[in-house]
Amino acid sequence: MTQPPFPQARMEVEILQAYSAPLEGRRGLLRLDFNENTLGPSPLVVEAIRAIPAEHYAIYPEYNGLREAVVANLMATTPGLARPLVPAQIGLFNGVDAAIHAVFHAFGELGHILLTTRPTFGYYGPCARMQGMAIEAVPYEGPEFAFPLEEIRRILLDVPRPRILLICNPNNPTGTRLAPEPILELAAAAPHTLVVVDELYEAFTGDSVLPLVDFAATPNLLVLRSLAKTAGLAGLRIGFAIGAPSVVDRLARVTGPYDINSFAVTAALAALADQAYIDGYVAEVLRARGWILAQLAAAGVRHHAAGGNYFLLWPESPALEVERRLRKARILVRSMAGKPLIEGSLRVSIGTIEQMQRFWEAYAAIEGLSGAELSA
Ligand SMILES: Cc1ncc(COP(=O)(O)O)c(C=O)c1O
Repeated sequence: MTQPPFPQARMEVEILQAYSAPLEGRRGLLRLDFNENTLGPSPLVVEAIRAIPAEHYAIYPEYNGLREAVVANLMATTPGLARPLVPAQIGLFNGVDAAIHAVFHAFGELGHILLTTRPTFGYYGPCARMQGMAIEAVPYEGPEFAFPLEEIRRILLDVPRPRILLICNPNNPTGTRLAPEPILELAAAAPHTLVVVDELYEAFTGDSVLPLVDFAATPNLLVLRSLAKTAGLAGLRIGFAIGAPSVVDRLARVTGPYDINSFAVTAALAALADQAYIDGYVAEVLRARGWILAQLAAAGVRHHAAGGNYFLLWPESPALEVERRLRKARILVRSMAGKPLIEGSLRVSIGTIEQMQRFWEAYAAIEGLSGAELSA
C-alpha cells in the first residue's frame, strides 16, 4: 500500500538523524552507562516530593524562589566567585538537554558555524543540524586527548566567525579538562560568538569558569549546570543556564512557559538545600575512582581517565561483546562504537566503591584477568 502524503517538516528536519540513546529496560541493573548518580537523590528530596498534595498536581508549576535558590547554592559552592550572581542570570530548563536545544533555537542560524570538539556529547550535533548549521568539530589531541586549544582559537578567529562555540568541560566522554582562563580568553577574543561551557561534570573535578567570569564584561559566555548527575534528579529533568541576563532572556523566549514540571521544582529546591548530600556522593565517587583506577593499572588494562565520573577502557575482547556480557551480569556500560578516536572502548560511569567492585569482578571474569584485587 502506498503511503498517503503527509506534511513535510523543514528540510533540515527531514534529513536529521535523531539523537537516540538506548534508554529502555535499565531499571534494577547497575547503571554505569549514562554517568548518572547511581544511588538516587537525598532523602530530603524524596520527602519533599511525597509531601506534594495531590491537588497541587492540578495547578501549573510555580517557579518563585528557584532562581534565588540556584544563586544561593552557586554562591555557597563556588569559592572565590569574583562577582555575586543574581537571579536574572539563571535560566531554568527541563534538563540541560533543553537548555542546549534552546541555545541552538535562539542563536543557531542557517549556514552559520557551530565550533566544537570531537568526540563529545552527542546532542550538540543534532541541535546544530536542526537549525541548518555547519559543524566544525576539532579532534582531541594525542594519546591523552588534550583539548585542541590552538586549532579552536584559529577557527574561532577565522572568517566566517563561528556563531556558537561549545566546550564540554570536562568533556564527555574523554574527560578532557580545560582550565577556565583559556576559556575566558577565547570568549573575550570572539565577542560575537556565544561560548557555551557545558559544566555537567564539573563537580567531580573543579575547573569551572564561574569564579572568574564577569557576565557584564563577557556577555557571550554561558555556563550549563544540571542536577542530573550529582544530585540524582536525572529522571525529573532539571538544568540551568547561567549567563548574562540578555542571553538568558533570549533562551527564555524560545522555551515554553511551563517547561519544568512541579515535581522537578520541588525536588530541585530540596536538592539545592542539601548540598551535604551532593558533596557526600561526589566524595564517594572520587574514592571509588581511585580504587578502580588502581585495579586497572595493576591489571595492565588500557584505560583513560581525566575529569568527570567516568573513564574509558579498551577491552582485549571486542567491546560490543564485553558490553553484552556485562549486561548479562546485570551491569550496563556504554560502547563508544562509532565515536572518533575512541572506537573500541567502553565508557564506564563511576558509582560507589561497592558498585565498582561489582563491575571489576564481572569485567575481570569476562576478560580472563587473574589476580584482580578485590578488597577496597
Ligand atoms: C555533557 C552533557 N551535557 C548535557 C547532558 C544532559 O544533561 P541533562 O540530564 O541535565 O539534560 C549530558 C547527559 O548525559 C551530558 O553528558
